[in-house]
Amino acid sequence: MPTKKSFFNILLFALLTFAFVVSLASADTACILTPKPSDAPQINGPEVFGVRPQNPFLFTIPATGKRPMRFSVQNLPKGLSIEENTGHITGSIEQEGDCNVTLQAGNEMGTAKKTLKIKVGDTIALTPPMGWNSWNCWGCAVDDQKIRAAADAMVSTGLINHGWSYINIDDCWQCGENKREPDTGEIQTNEKFPDMKALCDYVHSKGLKIGLYTDCGTMTCGGYEGSKGHESQDIMTYAKWGFDYVKIDWCHTEGMQPRRAYKKFGDAIGKAPRDIVFSICNWGEQKPWMWGKSLGGNLWRTTGDITDTWDSMSGIGFSQDELYKFAKPGHWNDPDMLVVGRVGWGPNLHQTKLTPDEQYTHISLWCLLSSPLLLGCDLTQLDDFTMNLLTNDEVLAINQDRLGKGAKPVVINQLPGGESTQIWVKYLQDGAKAVGLFNLTDEKKQVYVNWERLDIKGKHKVRDLWRQKDLGLFERSFKTEVNPHGVEMIKISAQSG
Ligand code: GAL
Repeated sequence: MPTKKSFFNILLFALLTFAFVVSLASADTACILTPKPSDAPQINGPEVFGVRPQNPFLFTIPATGKRPMRFSVQNLPKGLSIEENTGHITGSIEQEGDCNVTLQAGNEMGTAKKTLKIKVGDTIALTPPMGWNSWNCWGCAVDDQKIRAAADAMVSTGLINHGWSYINIDDCWQCGENKREPDTGEIQTNEKFPDMKALCDYVHSKGLKIGLYTDCGTMTCGGYEGSKGHESQDIMTYAKWGFDYVKIDWCHTEGMQPRRAYKKFGDAIGKAPRDIVFSICNWGEQKPWMWGKSLGGNLWRTTGDITDTWDSMSGIGFSQDELYKFAKPGHWNDPDMLVVGRVGWGPNLHQTKLTPDEQYTHISLWCLLSSPLLLGCDLTQLDDFTMNLLTNDEVLAINQDRLGKGAKPVVINQLPGGESTQIWVKYLQDGAKAVGLFNLTDEKKQVYVNWERLDIKGKHKVRDLWRQKDLGLFERSFKTEVNPHGVEMIKISAQSG
């Protein structure tokens, strides 16, 4: 029988737990900065889209607003058609050239329009790829069902309406080493992926694209069959299955030259009968930013693997200061995938260890850097904070800006103890500038930027991008208080703009 005292202790414990959970929940809600999208239609996503002639075309119009929604396109090139209930545009375009189309999304509240430039030519990934990858989430515990669930959730959560469009399978889908099809040498899947073609068809039917992973060496990092000696054959197999993206890793490559090894994949991808985004993943060895583009690389990892800690994320993100020169439409620096939401690298997931402020820093910096945005969390378990963090269309528009510039630091204030505040700037297509005022210290700090540092003069409009709020006109400088490990992300435009 519990005594009176132990009963009291249990009650006290229950009350304290309840208070703790409530305080956590309200802290979480208090950190939500972005207003919810309105019911009126709004078309999000890129303003430019690259495709190779004659290859299969898939673009889903990303639009927020109340459903049902009707989609249409004016001036759609010959060979393409649109499904009016979903906004999926499919088909293929015969000839090279540019074409401006007007996307339209309508519901009971009205109609939104947006111009999209379709560039039919050699270069794809004209804006950084946005999507999901299985690694930071499931690691080797990935399987067909988890990929389907991620695709379903990308649509049901509404992430697709903000331009999130790739579902990428990482390591551990292949057969064991040397277990290829004996007669043809064709790569085989393991039992967790019974039918890759059916899986690709499923993901495509949702209006999403799908990616895969391989390795230049004899084995992948997870110990499965690599592509060495089968580079072109493997790319053709992925194309036959229906993949739109391939990440190529660098384990078990003793004695190999990255440039030579990756060229074989680049050449094969150039000949494939579908558009495949080419992701070089050799952790920045031998500076892939110097040669990745010449091999047809659309993105190249610049560092080792990220984890969900401040040291890892900020160490990687803030060390990208020299690489802005190499980011351009079709060719992106890749400081690794995002570590927000529930991550785990295996069957057991946990909430990211980054604080809300650190997560704002993470997303702001990756958007300013024009980095690919690949979510590494379980999309079926998105909390309100994470969802809000990933659906701010003004912030995502900075990442997707069609000028394709990378950000650079213009002020680094070194403080005693090795800490700093930093100001990073990205030039935008419309002449405005996106600016991140970062506080890397453990205390609140005033962060200040003088117009001279931004090469501007006179009155300028300042908009707070996370809160989607105009802050007014500023004549010489902008100053604000920034939370520890946090950021203020603003857009500065000429007064008339
Ligand atoms: C690493 C790579 C990770 C992940 C992993 C899979 O080399 O950087 O992103 O792909 O291999 O084994």
